[in-house]
Amino acid sequence: MVNNMLWFEKCDSTMDICHRFSSICDRELIIGSSVQIEGRGTKNRGWVSPYGNLYLSYLLYPKHRKIHTIHMIGTLSVLKFLEQKFGDHNISIKWPNDVMVDEKKICGVLQENVFKNSQLIYSVLGIGLNVNMQINSEIDVPHNSVQLITNKTEDIKNLAKDITCIFNEYYMSGISDVEIMNIWRNNIDTIGKKIKLILLDEEFISGKVKDIDLNGDLVLNLSNNKLITIKAGMVKEMKISK
Ligand code: BTN
Repeated sequence: MVNNMLWFEKCDSTMDICHRFSSICDRELIIGSSVQIEGRGTKNRGWVSPYGNLYLSYLLYPKHRKIHTIHMIGTLSVLKFLEQKFGDHNISIKWPNDVMVDEKKICGVLQENVFKNSQLIYSVLGIGLNVNMQINSEIDVPHNSVQLITNKTEDIKNLAKDITCIFNEYYMSGISDVEIMNIWRNNIDTIGKKIKLILLDEEFISGKVKDIDLNGDLVLNLSNNKLITIKAGMVKEMKISK
């Protein structure tokens, strides 16, 4: 059960705070911050982190969970929280780690793992959720926020507690990794869509998403009907074609 939460008014990145704590703390921790000045996202991008949104990272020593289950739990915790809050909207996961409301990104999840001799020492799971924010011109993808949907201002620390409660239900429950993977997969709306991928080496690939396999990888049907498997780490950018 992760229930030790430390809150910062401002920090570089809650990910970095967790990495620093890992050298002096063998207990699992939650780090929250009201502002980040060096917030980061996946693929070496920054994460716009003004006052008003939620920035959380969990320092985890997940002996009982597979490494790739951790980011699924992070994504699902936010998805389930948003479903409880406004289930009448279209809430889904854009593979692999974005939570979307009405097809606009509201949350991103980032996992950083530290290994020694190919053994996992710890994992840091970061969650960035747009909360008290209007459209922000610094963000270059269509985005949403809790405030844009409800027109209300939310208490960030309460949201952090509510999401952590759901996180703990998945992280600590007897529910298996395979079941978590299936719940995560069933909420992904990328299956069946035509997509264009830019890979890390700048190569482009287009195709139709056939499935998400048991490892959480994307199975893509190319125009010549060949099937290929793409890992999240290979992708620089994914565009859904109309
Ligand atoms: C993404 O690119 O979609 C992932 C974004 C993850 C942002 C969160 S905010 C809390 C934590 N601290 C960071 O610097 N990044 C993650």
